[in-house]
Amino acid sequence: MPSTKFSFKDSYTYLNGFQSYHETEAIPDTLPIGQNSPQKPAHGLYAEKFSGTAFTAPRHENQQSWLYRILPAAAHRSFQPISSDIHQPQKIHQIPNQLRWNPFSFDYEVSWVESIHRVSEAGDPTMKSGLAIYVYAVGKDMPANESFYSADGDFLIVPQHGVLDIQTEMGKILVRANEICVIPRGVRYRVTVPDGPARGYICELYQGHFQLPELGPIGSNGLANARDFQAPVAYFDEDTETEWRVISKFNNGLFSATQFHTPFDVVGWHGNYYPYKYDLGRFNTIGSISYDHPDPSIFTVLTGPSDIAGTAIADFVIFPPRWLVQEDTFRPPWYHRNTMSEFMGLISGDYDAKTSGGFHPAGASLHNIMSAHGPDAGAHRGASEAELKPTKVGEQSMAFMFESCLMLGVTEWGLKTCEKLQKEYSEHSWEPLKSHFKRPIAYSNGSR
Ligand SMILES: [Fe+2]
Repeated sequence: MPSTKFSFKDSYTYLNGFQSYHETEAIPDTLPIGQNSPQKPAHGLYAEKFSGTAFTAPRHENQQSWLYRILPAAAHRSFQPISSDIHQPQKIHQIPNQLRWNPFSFDYEVSWVESIHRVSEAGDPTMKSGLAIYVYAVGKDMPANESFYSADGDFLIVPQHGVLDIQTEMGKILVRANEICVIPRGVRYRVTVPDGPARGYICELYQGHFQLPELGPIGSNGLANARDFQAPVAYFDEDTETEWRVISKFNNGLFSATQFHTPFDVVGWHGNYYPYKYDLGRFNTIGSISYDHPDPSIFTVLTGPSDIAGTAIADFVIFPPRWLVQEDTFRPPWYHRNTMSEFMGLISGDYDAKTSGGFHPAGASLHNIMSAHGPDAGAHRGASEAELKPTKVGEQSMAFMFESCLMLGVTEWGLKTCEKLQKEYSEHSWEPLKSHFKRPIAYSNGSR
């Protein structure tokens, strides 16, 4: 589990680089040279363009890939709506209270699609605005001939427990706790769980795509470095006979279509629109070496920008193991109120701002717009009296935050059905805080 720096190796091969222009082919000479759509693509394949942005998006934002495949994605029967207990419209509650959830349960009975529960949402997939936050608890592999895609947004998957083996159209990705994975809008994939039940969190970005944050005076390296993001190499199956089911998440409803070939038949692809993963242990954590501590934006891994400069629809922020050395400083996060909404989760360990208990791995909290929060009484007492020697915090721990400029609503499932909401989070955390105010003698007669 997490240390200051560590990394996994897995059995799949990856191409390194964030939003790099990659080329990969499972059979030599698959990709055409000097053009994208030759009259007769190599090996009798079909060429298919896969657009992640408008054709006319500015060059620095433009994302697309060209896929060379045995049969095009279009070769399927009509999508039909399918009923789902969890993928359906839900009443959304807007609540100013601080909220916190106990660890979400494992579910041993469901595969990926039915494992995804929406906890929070703001915006609308039809308008490509906003985001949704889910927890997943998956107990078994997706059926053998089933694939899934979301037309609603990009999935940023944050595993908390277990392994997800994800076969995508563009290749295979293995992702484990303390790694993350982004599956862009439209990419078809199938999830299996080779190590048994898995659990984690998802942020679905309805608007735009995740980017690396600007580094400003930090310079040209630091935080999440571009070379540590890993895209799959092309991998294909040959199957033009078996019946397959493609499930589409479309405006938060589910639709299913039948086709008689595997969707995982891409022999080669090139472009900059693809799924990728990142090992959080590779994050280069930066902090104060003098006094106070910087805003938590210093821990941003990825940002999904809004139309307002510097303001995110969804920032993905982590709190990794790190050294604290500040002098004359209250070292935990300050008490604050934020115009942004903060949804936090815990992958492992203890989060240093909450030492009085209640914030557990696989749990969550939501501090919505202007919901006041900060260290609980135990953390405040400890940090106020601690000897300020260099201290390592967050050993074996990884907390994270989805931070949004939008007011995050809570679903009926998150508020009631899941039965994980803590009843007295606020009372437990901050009511025990005592006043330490000492009125100076000159001000003690009440006249001032
Ligand atoms: Fe906060």
